[in-house]
Amino acid sequence: MKKFYITTPVYYVNSKPHIGHSYTQVACDTVARFMRQLGHEVFFMTGSDEHGEKIEKTTLERGYKKGEEKRFVDEIVPVFKDLWAKLGIKYDYFIRTTDDYHIKAVQAILQKLYKDGKIYKKVYKGWFCTPCETFWSENQAPGGICPDCKRPIERLDETNYFFKTSEYQKWLIEYIDKNPGFIRPDFRKNEVLGFLKEELLDLCISRPKSRMSWGIEIPFDKDYVTYVWFDALVNYISGAGYPHDMERFGNLWPADFHVIGKDILRHHAVYWPIILHAAGIEPPKSIFAHGWWVIKGEKMSKSKGNVVDPIELVTKYGVDPYRYFLLREVNFGLDGTFSEEALITRYNSDLANDLGNLLSRTLSMVDKYFEGKVPEITGHGSRVTGYDNLKNKALNLSAELERSIPNFDFVTALTKIWEVIDIANKLIEDSKPWNLAKEKKTDDLASLMSGLIDALKTIAISIYPFMPETSEKMKNQLGMKDGSGKVRSSGPLFPRIETK
Ligand code: ME8
Ligand code: MG
Repeated sequence: MKKFYITTPVYYVNSKPHIGHSYTQVACDTVARFMRQLGHEVFFMTGSDEHGEKIEKTTLERGYKKGEEKRFVDEIVPVFKDLWAKLGIKYDYFIRTTDDYHIKAVQAILQKLYKDGKIYKKVYKGWFCTPCETFWSENQAPGGICPDCKRPIERLDETNYFFKTSEYQKWLIEYIDKNPGFIRPDFRKNEVLGFLKEELLDLCISRPKSRMSWGIEIPFDKDYVTYVWFDALVNYISGAGYPHDMERFGNLWPADFHVIGKDILRHHAVYWPIILHAAGIEPPKSIFAHGWWVIKGEKMSKSKGNVVDPIELVTKYGVDPYRYFLLREVNFGLDGTFSEEALITRYNSDLANDLGNLLSRTLSMVDKYFEGKVPEITGHGSRVTGYDNLKNKALNLSAELERSIPNFDFVTALTKIWEVIDIANKLIEDSKPWNLAKEKKTDDLASLMSGLIDALKTIAISIYPFMPETSEKMKNQLGMKDGSGKVRSSGPLFPRIETK
């Protein structure tokens, strides 16, 4: 069996997750489910990023005392886990950066780099963006504004440990050039290469405890903790067994995909491969950066407070329509504007009308004309025009999905599935089964019904990675679960949403 190791970011647990976080989760879950369906041995890991300045600040803002950070994150982590359960996110492992083995892994890597002379101490005078936990030079942040989040940055003057990132700039550029699939989509690769045209500065990897103490202690200097990004990135290997279970690690690494939002592309595509390379570990096979969900022209973000709560949406519209909307509405990789109206439109047209109606009218005809028993085809093949087209489209579908889903091209995958749905609906309209019944053309009617049921079975299997609950419901109604050959219609899959 081929292994498939896919990761999401470890999210900051400084407040509740929103649509943006659920987007990465749903995308990874869909790919993971698909790869399992293909028979791969999937390891899908997600988790939480629990150290650093942001968490320390939020802990105090929420009325906890200094030193109670762990108590605070212990209360927030279940909020994330509950949402993932609600959204049907079937991950294999949840890593917390406060886990003991993770802390040891971070310290092991730091120790190794230090011993090899890759980490040194120096005084840093410059600018710092607290929300982004990022250092900026005067040139990079003109006017004292963070180029990433556009908020004011702070002056900083302190002694810290630095990792010799700059030594690896040339290596990284060559690596990216030689491995075209490493950073995806392609236009993001060009962004990273653009960034690498400028001189790469050594990365500050420590914080003095006197200023910020909520972090992993630097193994060679107890007055410092580790910079949260250095800590967080290591989750991808510590969670796979490095260094406590090297056999497991050997089977899983390199990861097949790190899926992230474009906001953290530089950390993943520049710093992470360099850390790994310096520590003598292979880079991941691929980093896929998706776009942002935007609301009124601005990135939806916890720190901006303009977020939409996924719980509210799934309570109103259901989990599967929500998952479907996220992956169907916007090409994975590009930004998308979120609106509830767009979700309702997709729901009514694609789910209630196209898919829901196809299932319910097919089942009710099988009920009416064949007492719920899927007819055996007599004679050979089809007499109804359009039948072969449907059959062929359905047959080709799995190959189409194998091309698109592992490449995160969800829009193409769903479009291909919906082509089959559309052809099936059109076949019903064109061949008018109710007339065939009246004219007693029973053979034609039988082949038509069995063809439609076959197509629906293919559809039920194909939508599984996207809409697992709906797939189950369809399989039940189509009698796929018990092999009785009987269908069991039971109400609409997606009751229409009435709008004014
Ligand atoms: O950055 N649209 O955590 P984070 C789409 N802890 N995706 C979005 C989004 C939006 N508006 N907002 C957030 C961190 N995301 C670090 C990661 S990894 C070693 C450490 C998603 O809680 C997207 O995946 O700020 C983005 O990259 C991630 O949440 C950032 O989550
Ligand atoms: Mg963020």
